[in-house]
This record gives sequence, C-alpha cells and structure tokens, in this order.
Amino acid sequence: MEKIIDIEWSKLGFSYIKTDYRYISYWKDGKWDEGTLTQDNRLHISEASTALHYGQQCFEGLKAYRTKDGKVQLFRPDRNAARMQDSCRRIMMPEFPIERFVDACKQVVKANEIYVPPYGSGATLYLRPFLIGVGDNLGVRPAPEFIFSVFCSPVGPYFKGGMKPVNFSVSDYDRAAPYGTGAAKVGGNYAGSLMPHEMAVKSGFADCIYLDPATHTKIEEVGAANFFGITKDNKFVTPKSPSILPSITKYSLMQVAKDYLGMEVEERDVYIDKLDEFAEAGACGTAAVITPIGGIEYKGKLHVFYSETEVGPVTKKLYETLCGIQVGDITAPEGWIAGV
Ligand SMILES: Cc1ncc(COP(=O)(O)O)c(C=O)c1O
Repeated sequence: MEKIIDIEWSKLGFSYIKTDYRYISYWKDGKWDEGTLTQDNRLHISEASTALHYGQQCFEGLKAYRTKDGKVQLFRPDRNAARMQDSCRRIMMPEFPIERFVDACKQVVKANEIYVPPYGSGATLYLRPFLIGVGDNLGVRPAPEFIFSVFCSPVGPYFKGGMKPVNFSVSDYDRAAPYGTGAAKVGGNYAGSLMPHEMAVKSGFADCIYLDPATHTKIEEVGAANFFGITKDNKFVTPKSPSILPSITKYSLMQVAKDYLGMEVEERDVYIDKLDEFAEAGACGTAAVITPIGGIEYKGKLHVFYSETEVGPVTKKLYETLCGIQVGDITAPEGWIAGV
C-alpha cells in the first residue's frame, strides 16, 4: 500500500522532518564501498571519531524541485559535489567522487519522492550530504575511517517571511580566520556562529553579518548566506574574499544577472561604511534562496537600502529568474539541471 503523508507544504519552515531513506557509504582501507540506501536514520560510530572531537567533518546543502509537469530535478548538484571535495582536501578527508555524489542524491530523492513538495507550494526537498571522520583514534590526526551520507527533509523558507525584507546586524565576532577554513563547508565554522546568531536574533535581527576577520571593514557573509548589492547604476556586486564560502547560488546569480538581465557584475570588496552605493541588497544561498535585506545595523545605526517592507525591483527579478530556472519554468544554462 502506498504511504500517505500529511504535510502542510505551505506552512513548512526550515526544520528536520524524518524521511524514509538515506544513502550511506563507508571508507576503509583506502576505498569507498559501493554504498546503499537505508531506512535507519541513526549512525553507530566510535566514541573516538575525529568528527566528534576535532571537527573533522564537512557537509553540503542542495535542493530538489518539483516542476510544473510533476517531474523532479536537482539544481547544480555537481557544484556541491566539487565543493565537498574542496572541503575534504582542506581537512584531510578522502574525496567522494563527483558522479557518485550526484547519483547518491538522485537515489535519495527517488526513494523519498513522496516528500518532494508540489510545484508552486513554496517548499522544496532539501538534501544534506555530509562526510565525517570515524573509527577508533585518539591523537589529532586524520581518521582511519570515514562515512559519506545523504539525507533529505522537505523545507520551507529559511528566514521567516521568505521573500520579505529582513534586517541584519553586524557582528563583532569573526566567522573565520584570514587563512582559516572560511571557504570550506566545515562544521567548526558553524559552531562558532551559533552565539553571534543568537545575539543578533535576541536583538530583533534575522541574523548577523560577518566582516572580514583581518580588518573588520568589509562585508563577508550574511549568516549562512552570501551578500549581494545592486548599485545605484544597476550593477550586481558581491564580496570577494578567500574566507567566504563560495556560494553556488551567488555564482549562479552572477551569471543570471549578466546573461538574463543584462547587468554588469562585480566580485570585489564591499565596505561596510560605503553601503550608500547600493540601491538594493540581499542574502543568497540554497536555504536563504534570495532574502532581501531591509537594513543593516552597524555601530548603532540602521542603514536601510530599498525599503524595510518592500522588495526592490532588481532583487525581485533576480529571484523570479533564479526560481524559474530551478523549477524548470525558464530555460537553464547548459548543465545546471539534473533530472532525477
Ligand atoms: C556560510 C555560508 N555562506 C553561503 C552559503 C550559500 O551557499 P550556497 O548558495 O552554495 O548554498 C551557505 C550555505 O551553504 C553558507 O553556509
């Protein structure tokens, strides 16, 4: 008998919902095993796993989208696979092959297809691949064994309100060190962000903005998303720094801005005391999609961009084009869509 699930898609936030299957593969004696789907959502690992003590672990986040004609597709999963390989190299874990990563994501989506939200519901199926160091080990050194796994959960908007502007405050804390692990998607970066996030939320902001760790003058990240601004002369500008996570959404938006909206695009320094150059601003990422930034509080003053309540016209156009591509309403650039 087919399983019936009772989820109100339009009410979903960004929370864990246990789905039926996840993919798991083990690395031992220098190689990955063939991998399998399992219904067990618990891991049984050594108490001496490096992932638990030394943060030797990384993860990814991508989404499956339902198209108008009911098909399911992934957005640039090969980019997440490649970024996970970059993260693995940075913290000395074995890379999981790109084709196998994409195939594992497809297997998980197919096996959990009833959890892929309907077209037009505003919800999507979020996939969380992760790779962790496990096995018996005590000293600070790479683990003897590793696990690669992918699970999924249906999600709604990451920031409450979805495509409504929200305000951010600038944090005094750093997310990453100048030559640290900021460009890798490793858990340690996120553990360190929990307290600044909590402080920002308690003060009434959606999240906090991190400045560059060396000089505290340039914008780096907007919580767990990248920053973009639209200049008064209609350029798409986004920060460039070796300690920012290279957002797949951001690089996609740069191409969308250039090729679909005919805008000039710049990846360069964005100074926190020169926000006046922007008519609009936003946060972008897989989870955040495009979240318009109403204002940024810095040194006790709130700088409002377009409006604290309305979405600017360029941000809106970028959002519609990106989402249109992701759900298959707008033709994607070559290689961006992987059918499931
Ligand atoms: C710190 C950080 N920055 C930016 C992003 C956005 O990256 P992407 O567009 O690849 O999801 C994420 C989410 O993955 C993130 O965690």
